[in-house]
Amino acid sequence: MRSLVALLLVTSFAVAADKPAVFAPYTKPTCIAHRGASADAPEHTLAAYELALKHGAEFVEPDLQMTKDGVLVCLHDTTLDRTTNVKEVFPDRAKEVSGKKTWPVAEFTLKEIQTLDAGAWKGKEFAGQKVPTFQEMIDTVKGKAGIIPETKAPEVYGKLGLNMEKELMAVLKANKLDTPGADPKTPVVIQSFSADSLKALRKDHACKLPLVYLFSVDQSADKLKGIKEFAEGIAPNKAVVLKRPGIVTDAHDLGLSVTVWTCRSGSTGEFKDVKAEMTHLLKELKVDAVFTDNPDQFPK
Ligand code: G3P
Ligand code: CA
Repeated sequence: MRSLVALLLVTSFAVAADKPAVFAPYTKPTCIAHRGASADAPEHTLAAYELALKHGAEFVEPDLQMTKDGVLVCLHDTTLDRTTNVKEVFPDRAKEVSGKKTWPVAEFTLKEIQTLDAGAWKGKEFAGQKVPTFQEMIDTVKGKAGIIPETKAPEVYGKLGLNMEKELMAVLKANKLDTPGADPKTPVVIQSFSADSLKALRKDHACKLPLVYLFSVDQSADKLKGIKEFAEGIAPNKAVVLKRPGIVTDAHDLGLSVTVWTCRSGSTGEFKDVKAEMTHLLKELKVDAVFTDNPDQFPK
């Protein structure tokens, strides 16, 4: 009997040792400032990134787009119209897409984009904020928090002869952030909705950094095994996890981290506020990290 108990203990220890308790870059339940502290400052501006640091975010998120001259800039949309004054500055440069005027990032050089105001739409006090380059974002955050860049619409840029993954790795390398643990104060994780983008990072660009795959539709345990082939973590929409909390265990059993998006004030469904929502996701459903527009509300 005693030897049976000993065997069970050894076996369970071996299983536990096999399974990373926490995804290496996350040292504890982790707060990721989504587009910076974007509830209180204009998303993807240095003001939003600085506020995220002030609010104690462990990671700051830049979404990445590319300019006509191949520079990585921080912006969520593939177009400039929602978050800048491009319509006023370049009224004649619109493209017509499905009968609607739009101003694609890829049609503008960095110099042109730097003339735009990216803050006034959020409030007069933010007038003068610019669309930052990825380098400017790194300069603001390096040494103070982790960075979790997202390759946005890499296929759009690929068709234009621009290689987002190559440029991303080049910028990270220039900043000595291209290998895991290179700067303990600035862990780097790369995320994408594009499995091809993550695979290209790994295969074509020898990327050793942790990769996280974003999705909005539930994935079976079998599907997660496929994701495990090219990523270290998953990042489902929070609705997926709230509907089927078992996906967290399924992922953890495979050694995949779980990050959810996006917790924001004013959009918390059954929860009384964003702090209650994040508390439920982290403490009860055991996700490892959350993207939030409100890093100041992250439960400590
Ligand atoms: O990257 C996580 C989350 O930001 C995905 O949604 O559309 O805000 O980039 P989106
Ligand atoms: Ca994102």
